[in-house]
Amino acid sequence: MDQELLEIVFDNVYNGIYIVDGRGITLAVNRTFEEMSGIRGEELVGRSLYELVGKDNYFTGSASLLVIERKAPVTATYSTSTGRKLLVKGRPIFDGRGEIRYIVNTIWDLTVVQYQQTIDDDTARDHLVAEEDLIACSDAMRQVIDVALRVAPSDSTLLITGETGVGKSLLARLIHRASSRREKPLMQINCAAIPEALLESELFGYEAGAFTGADRKGKPGLFELADSGTVFLDEIAEIPLHTQAKLLGVLQDREYYRIGGRKITSIDVRLIAATNRDLARLVAEGRFRADLFYRLDVVPLQIPPLRDRRDDIPALIDFFLAKHNRRHQTYRIFSRKTMDYLTSLPWPGNIRELENAVERLVVTAGDDADGTVPAAEEPMVNSAGSLKMQLQEYERKVLLQARRRYGSTRRMATALGISQASTVRKLQRLAPADDTNGV
Ligand SMILES: Nc1ncnc2c1ncn2[C@@H]1O[C@H](COP(=O)(O)OP(=O)(O)OP(=O)(O)O)[C@@H](O)[C@H]1O
Ligand SMILES: [Mg+2]
Repeated sequence: MDQELLEIVFDNVYNGIYIVDGRGITLAVNRTFEEMSGIRGEELVGRSLYELVGKDNYFTGSASLLVIERKAPVTATYSTSTGRKLLVKGRPIFDGRGEIRYIVNTIWDLTVVQYQQTIDDDTARDHLVAEEDLIACSDAMRQVIDVALRVAPSDSTLLITGETGVGKSLLARLIHRASSRREKPLMQINCAAIPEALLESELFGYEAGAFTGADRKGKPGLFELADSGTVFLDEIAEIPLHTQAKLLGVLQDREYYRIGGRKITSIDVRLIAATNRDLARLVAEGRFRADLFYRLDVVPLQIPPLRDRRDDIPALIDFFLAKHNRRHQTYRIFSRKTMDYLTSLPWPGNIRELENAVERLVVTAGDDADGTVPAAEEPMVNSAGSLKMQLQEYERKVLLQARRRYGSTRRMATALGISQASTVRKLQRLAPADDTNGV
């Protein structure tokens, strides 16, 4: 393709494009990116992302820096100061020696994707999924989402199964959002959290004076409150047998009486149930009604545990890292080594446990950091080269890490025990050749 054509394509694709070199220096951004971000290319080109990222800075985070840290492709979402949500996919281009030569970032503006006619299925799914803040990179999880989104528009009853913390509640919300009932309420109840005696009245409501202690005016149940929306019964295995019988009747007849009531209430809701128990086994043991099980199990959706979809872990970590950096006003990045370590753990508490761990690392990694970006954790630079070169390289790493951790030169100077002036001088020396426009 000739140069002119390339430039035309570069500036006219619907995606933003942001290209940096292996050290994080901005080489080019296209016009779509300028429009998405509201930042002019000339303000960015030639500048290092290490100086563009930070509090009150151009960017709050950078997929490129994650790519450099990990030497691997990265997908991340960011919010701009103008309230837009961007999905960024950063891909490293390696030279012959396995070093990163360029990083090409492709950027989707998730706030407008839905209005574009040209988006493919993949992007549409990314959009919906990102709107619900649901990460699905592994094939296993993508398959679950595919099925979920395929059945979402229908009215079929769904049973979501999976261990604790795998995302059952989140998936239920996604399905409701992708259904034709999305403008109606999603009413959910955790059947394990409600005392048995109250569960039936919570589900079906009661009339005035139905039982002692009941509200004098009566009370609508969940099925009524859902009002043509979706009812999500979480931990359905915990429903007592007599309530199971009533629920089954309601699902068959699509109508019921409030407790103590004489007026028939008809229901028009979509039912989603979830459990972390093996319902089939409970049926075999006589602890769950077989007929109700078959009624619920119309479309089974099984979410695999995190240990069986490790491909999701890096993206989940990035997602939670960004979330908690935002929440705690920090700018931490995990090294490849930390990522590898986190990715290798068994995570019996699944995503909930992973999120808690990431938040703990973000909050607790202070000056004597325990694994986020401590200088000592990076392997020593290669053993080739003169001592002076090696020391320079080591100093470069220390400076880059300190800048990432502390943001301002004043705090860096304090932490490193040098003056602010010499911190600034050292930072300027880091990438002299590329700072062509003098910033
Ligand atoms: N794919 C995902 N992407 C991002 N966050 C997720 C994902 N799956 C789960 N989470 C988050 O992990 C936490 C646990 O998810 P959720 O509550 O949906 O799990 P659950 O299977 O319903 O757990 P439990 O069995 O304990 O009810 C939530 O904070 C949720 O937002
Ligand atoms: Mg749940």
